[in-house]
Amino acid sequence: MVYKKFLKVFFSVSLFFFTQPLPAFNPDFDRGVDIRSAVEESRKIESEFAYAEDERENPVWISVSDTDLAGLGNEFDFTSRQPLAHGNTVSVFKVKESELDELSDIMNRRFHKSAGFFAHTSFESALKDIIAPPAAMAGAFTIDRPDVVKPMLQMVSEENISDIITKLSAYKNRYYRSETGVSSARWLAGYWKELVKDRADVSVALHRHASWPQESVILTVKGSANPEQVAVLGGHFDSIAGWGSSDPVAPGADDNASGIAALTEAIRVMVKAGYKPKITLKFIAYAAEEVGLRGSREIADAFKKEGVAVQGVIQLDMANYKGSADDIYLIADHTNAAQNAFLGKLIETYTNYRWGETKCGYACSDHASWTANGFIASFPFEAKMGEDNPNIHSAKDTLAQTGGHSKHAFKFANLAVAYLVEMGK
Ligand code: BES
Ligand code: ZN
Repeated sequence: MVYKKFLKVFFSVSLFFFTQPLPAFNPDFDRGVDIRSAVEESRKIESEFAYAEDERENPVWISVSDTDLAGLGNEFDFTSRQPLAHGNTVSVFKVKESELDELSDIMNRRFHKSAGFFAHTSFESALKDIIAPPAAMAGAFTIDRPDVVKPMLQMVSEENISDIITKLSAYKNRYYRSETGVSSARWLAGYWKELVKDRADVSVALHRHASWPQESVILTVKGSANPEQVAVLGGHFDSIAGWGSSDPVAPGADDNASGIAALTEAIRVMVKAGYKPKITLKFIAYAAEEVGLRGSREIADAFKKEGVAVQGVIQLDMANYKGSADDIYLIADHTNAAQNAFLGKLIETYTNYRWGETKCGYACSDHASWTANGFIASFPFEAKMGEDNPNIHSAKDTLAQTGGHSKHAFKFANLAVAYLVEMGK
C-alpha cells in the first residue's frame, strides 16, 4: 500500500521533472536536412557540450533483470537503492546519467558482456519494461524474387565495406557525447546523402535526441505502392571503450562500423541496381546504443506511438569477426522466430553460407528496443556467443585486428540485400 502510494507520488514528481527541461519529442522521420549546412553548424554543436555536461546530472530510469542484478553483487551501489517498480523478473531504478558508463563497464567486467539494461528518460517509459511486450503480429515472409536478388548480389563489394569501416574507425571515438561522436554522424549522413542524390524517392535525415548531442541517421526509401508499410534495417554507429572517459580511443571497427558498412553497401547496391521497393525501407544508424540502447529505444518507442506498420526489423551489430564454424548466427532471444526462419531460408536460397543459432542471454543490442515495443525483429550476428570478437569496447577494435579485410561483413551485406528485396515487394 505504502509502496503504491510512493510510486504514485514519484510518478507525478518524475513526470513533472521530465516534462520541464526537455523539448517535446516530434518524430518527423522524413524531414530531410541540408548536410552541408549541418556540417558547418558542428561548431555551434561544440558549444552545446558545456550544457550537455550539466545534463549528465539528469536522472535516468533503468530497467534491469533480477538475474543480472543478483550477479552484480554490491559493486554498483544498487543495494542502498530501492527499486522504484518491480515486475516478475525486472526492476526499475533511478540513477544519474553520469553513472551509466560505470554501470555498463561493471556489467561488462562481471558478466563478460552478458548483462544489459535499458536506459529511459522517463519513469513512465521504464515501467513499460516490466510489463510483457505486446505479441508481434505474424509476418507473411515469402521468397520469390531471385530474378531481382541474384544480379544485385553480384554487385556487392567487399572493398567498399572495408572502406567505410576504415573511415568510421578513423574517428578517435564515436561516443554519444563526444565531438567526434557528433561529427561521425554528420559524416555518415553526408555519405548516405551522396549515395542517393539521384533518387527523388530517397531522403536522409539527422534524427535529434533530446538528451545528448549525437544524432541518429535515418535514410528513407519511400515505398512506391504501400508507403505506409515499413521495413527497418539498422545498426548502431556509436562506439565506447572503458569508462570514466568521455573521450576514449574507441575505433569500434567491428562494434559496429562493420554493421553500418554492410548496410551502407546494401544501400549502394540498391541504388546502382535502380531497385525501387513497394513498401518503405528505413536504414537507421542508431546513436547511443552503447549506453543502454538509448537511440533505438527512442526511435522504436516513437514508431510504436505513431502506429507505424513495421513489417520487420533487422539489426546488424558486429559482422566482421569470424569466430565460429558457421558464417551467420541468428540470435534466438529477444527476436522473432518466424522472421529468423525467413532469414535462414534467405541464406539457404541465395548464398552458400552456413548459418546457426545462438543466444545473447540479455537485451544486448538495438533489436531489443523493437522487440520491447512488440515489433518483429531479428539479429544476424558474427559468431556463436562467447566466440565473438574479444577486442570490442577497447582501442584494439580495429580493422587490422580482423585481418584488414571484410570477408565476413560481406556476407551480412549480401543478406541485407536479399532481405530488402524480399521485404520490399
Ligand atoms: N555489440 C554489442 C553487443 C554484443 C556484444 C552482442 C557481444 C553479442 C556479443 C553492443 O554494442 C553492446 O555492447 N551492448 C551492451 C549492452 C547494452 C545494453 C549497453 C553489452 O553487451 O554490454
Ligand atoms: Zn555493438
